[in-house]
Amino acid sequence: MTVALEASGLSKHFGALHVTQGVSLSLASGARTALIGPNGAGKTTLVNLLTGVLKPDAGTLRLFGEEVTQASAAVRTRKGLVRTFQISSLFAQLTVFENVYIAVAQAAGRGFRFWHAAGRQRDLLERTERLVLQLQLQSDMHRRTAEIAYGRQRLVEIAIALALEPRVLLLDEPAAGIPSNELALLHDAIGSLPAEIAVLMIEHDMEMVRRFASQVAVLVNGALLMCGKPQEVMSHPEVQSVYLGTAGKKRFDGALAHA
Ligand SMILES: Nc1ncnc2c1ncn2[C@@H]1O[C@H](COP(=O)(O)OP(=O)(O)OP(=O)(O)O)[C@@H](O)[C@H]1O
Ligand SMILES: [Mg+2]
Repeated sequence: MTVALEASGLSKHFGALHVTQGVSLSLASGARTALIGPNGAGKTTLVNLLTGVLKPDAGTLRLFGEEVTQASAAVRTRKGLVRTFQISSLFAQLTVFENVYIAVAQAAGRGFRFWHAAGRQRDLLERTERLVLQLQLQSDMHRRTAEIAYGRQRLVEIAIALALEPRVLLLDEPAAGIPSNELALLHDAIGSLPAEIAVLMIEHDMEMVRRFASQVAVLVNGALLMCGKPQEVMSHPEVQSVYLGTAGKKRFDGALAHA
């Protein structure tokens, strides 16, 4: 089993606030790991440390055995560590196809100048088409991104992330803001991610966690409380007590009943 991503003792503080406290977490190739924890637990900060948006005060990060602790976000992306882009990074006035094409072209090192019709290249067009089909976006592919449903826009983000050929993919709350009647598409998209990619998903919706994860990591006050099989972790008294009295409790119990 190949270790794709290995964080050891990652720590980060902002002033007196210790937001990440000695987090060690390892993802094998093909991992489906959910990162859960209450609001403010430090989940997004951890993803920022993994992607290189933030540099840790202590600890190391390895990507396929190679140390990348001090590497920039861009270098990490080239090495296959990709996170989903936020909506704001989509070109709202361009079509879905164009947005995905630009990412495919950039990943191929051919950038913007190849956007002009004369420069469009068959291999890139085909790859774009495959991604559009994979995310089931074909009915929207020639519409401007700004005009399509919010849930579909988030699928475009996933298509763009996949265009960058990730070997490790980080999804920070992919379901956030998606109306429940559009969630099925996201479930399909996440369920059909290439098997060999290691995926770490931050998610509050325990039903999504239950469907997705083969490993669940629980972050509380910046430290990893537990990491293990979903049923074991989610039924553990310490994990349950973390969620007691929080808004997530009901959904948490609901998902447990199915676990
Ligand atoms: N740049 C920063 N400067 C100071 N404090 C920060 C900074 N970024 C995050 N924090 C604080 O660190 C803590 C963890 O924040 P973080 O956003 O990582 O939590 P989270 O688990 O992603 O929360 P949520 O579930 O709400 O998304 C919070 O108390 C937050 O206010
Ligand atoms: Mg967050």
